[in-house]
Amino acid sequence: MEKKSVRTGIIGAGFAATFHFECLKKVYGTHVDVEGVFATDTEQATAFAKKRGIRAYNSLEELLDKVDVVHVCTPPVVHESIAIAALERDKFAIVEKPLTGYFGDGSNDFNGDTFAKQDALDHSLASIKRMLKAEKKSKGKILYAENWIYAPSIQKEREIIEKTGAQILWMHGEEAHSGSHATTYAYWKFSGGGVMIGKGCHPLTAALYLKRVEGKAKNGKPISPRAVSARAHAITRLKGFEDKGHIRCDYHDIDDFSLMHIVFEDGTIADIFASDIILGGIHNWLEVAANNHRTLCNINPNSAMKTYNPVEEYFNDIYVVEKTGTKQGWSNPSPDEDWFTGYPQEMEAFYRAIAYGEPVESDSNIAADCISTIYSAYVSAEKAGAEVAIKTF
Ligand SMILES: NC(=O)c1ccc[n+]([C@@H]2O[C@H](COP(=O)([O-])OP(=O)(O)OC[C@H]3O[C@@H](n4cnc5c(N)ncnc54)[C@H](O)[C@@H]3O)[C@@H](O)[C@H]2O)c1
Repeated sequence: MEKKSVRTGIIGAGFAATFHFECLKKVYGTHVDVEGVFATDTEQATAFAKKRGIRAYNSLEELLDKVDVVHVCTPPVVHESIAIAALERDKFAIVEKPLTGYFGDGSNDFNGDTFAKQDALDHSLASIKRMLKAEKKSKGKILYAENWIYAPSIQKEREIIEKTGAQILWMHGEEAHSGSHATTYAYWKFSGGGVMIGKGCHPLTAALYLKRVEGKAKNGKPISPRAVSARAHAITRLKGFEDKGHIRCDYHDIDDFSLMHIVFEDGTIADIFASDIILGGIHNWLEVAANNHRTLCNINPNSAMKTYNPVEEYFNDIYVVEKTGTKQGWSNPSPDEDWFTGYPQEMEAFYRAIAYGEPVESDSNIAADCISTIYSAYVSAEKAGAEVAIKTF
């Protein structure tokens, strides 16, 4: 079969835009033609474009006219508007996590600690509906960039569930490290919440996905989340928190520790932790306790490699693993971190969907269920863990 070409635009020129661009180099089923980049930080966009030999555009609209797909690698607050602008032009939108959210009432003094969380749930559900409506009308699609779904360990677990007819009884998982780098992340008005949404969305979506796989394999229909009980805390903002310089602690009005307990419609359960208070590198894993097997998906770190380095300086120009505090002593270097994380597999799948119409595993529906679950969880956390029903899409 002849390879089709896809013209691409990247929106945003920061951290996510960088790994998206790197992964595009690994797409093999489609010719990817990166047309250019647009970001509101024009200096950053110009430098990003120059380094990669692409053009920096002055507006979103100008770039949209030239491409088949845009990568939405901006802060979550503008995911909805950019995705809808693309869909209205019949273009595809690869949208980074979280799909959308609630970013306050627009006032300068909006405070994520004090507003009624039901507002966040109502507004984020309305945002999802607008996005799904735009997608329905469009020839384009929302491709939800949830790399956990494409991580090789999660895909292997999918195969085990499908081929053995497993019933998942309980999942528990976590995404955690010592604090996100983005300055905007500290503010609810840009991020739409704290660690529960920013990091919790990853293991949560993987858990939602695997119950969906189980249901489809058994009855041709996903098993949806029904209710959630949650807690959210701001540990680094406690008066008594003692800062030793290892954990980011300049958050303005967001949570840095969260727990969601999810009950699915068949009564089975998942417990999802997310935190910004963990030392020793990124800690991303999902454990599946099924009726016929048990699996631990180690996304990061994993033990593909184990190295002992007696002197920190030896490894000065060697990348070991994301967010590790030191390279001295024993470590688990990731020989191909992007691969274990699912980034290149996700891009390959998305470009096949765009070029050849292949179905995707990470679509707007699972993204919508993730957002609905998380904002229901914020409502629960406000009530110190009372159970809240989840609306699904
Ligand atoms: N899947 C993952 O593992 C992963 C990792 C990191 C970040 N992310 C997600 O990627 C997104 C971006 O995060 P980041 O860390 O790259 O942030 P960043 O701060 O590094 O970069 C954001 C970029 O967006 C640009 N921008 C802001 N508003 C814009 C607008 N209205 N139009 C065009 N450009 C605009 C900025 O100029 C900047 O270039 C977030 O949704 C984040 O949650 C995902």
